Amino acid sequence: MKIRYLRQDDLCSVVALVERIKIIDLSKKEIYQTLKSDFEWISKTFSLALVAEEKEKIVGLITLEEYERTRQGVIAELGYIAVDKDYQQKSVATKLYEEAVRRLKKNILKNNFFLRLIKAEVDSLDNTAQSFYTNLGMEKAVEIPNYWSQENGLVIFVKRFN
Ligand SMILES: CC(C)(COP(=O)(O)OP(=O)(O)OC[C@H]1O[C@@H](n2cnc3c(N)ncnc32)[C@H](O)[C@@H]1OP(=O)(O)O)[C@@H](O)C(=O)NCCC(=O)NCCS
Repeated sequence: MKIRYLRQDDLCSVVALVERIKIIDLSKKEIYQTLKSDFEWISKTFSLALVAEEKEKIVGLITLEEYERTRQGVIAELGYIAVDKDYQQKSVATKLYEEAVRRLKKNILKNNFFLRLIKAEVDSLDNTAQSFYTNLGMEKAVEIPNYWSQENGLVIFVKRFN
């Protein structure tokens, strides 16, 4: 499996992956537009997007976006993290996260900043995503009940870096 930066010509395959997994309740066109604007934003900030490729097929995606840049350091937000169903529970997402953090830190340091914190927002009913973030060493920092609906709260996970 190869991990590499997302390219503009990957957008259609990545939209299809996100739509297949149904992480967010958006149409194909809306997913395309959000990823395309993420892509443009990426070139102007520390943000990055990586894909996992297996036999020339994109099987995973991660976006790590610059959220805030202050003298105290950079705060990044884990945006998309998605792995094709056939490739789940084989550490693909963990490898994508570790590689994304390694590249983000390197890029930030090259520009004389440092990475302070990574945050990730998750649905309180999404136990898979919560176990995944806990497994990465992230901590549950905030929980807001009834955030997205009567049943669905918002949970914010954070990982601090020294
Ligand atoms: C969440 C997701 C990205 C995990 O991808 P993955 O490649 O299967 O994850 P990994 O194999 O690296 O799993 C690492 C750890 O996460 C946890 N985990 C992953 N999948 C899990 C599942 N189905 N149930 C419970 N825990 C799970 C486990 O702790 C696992 O460690 P283990 O293998 O030692 O048990 C994947 O399930 C996915 O794409 N889900 C749909 C999209 C989504 O929910 N994204 C996150 C919210 S936006």
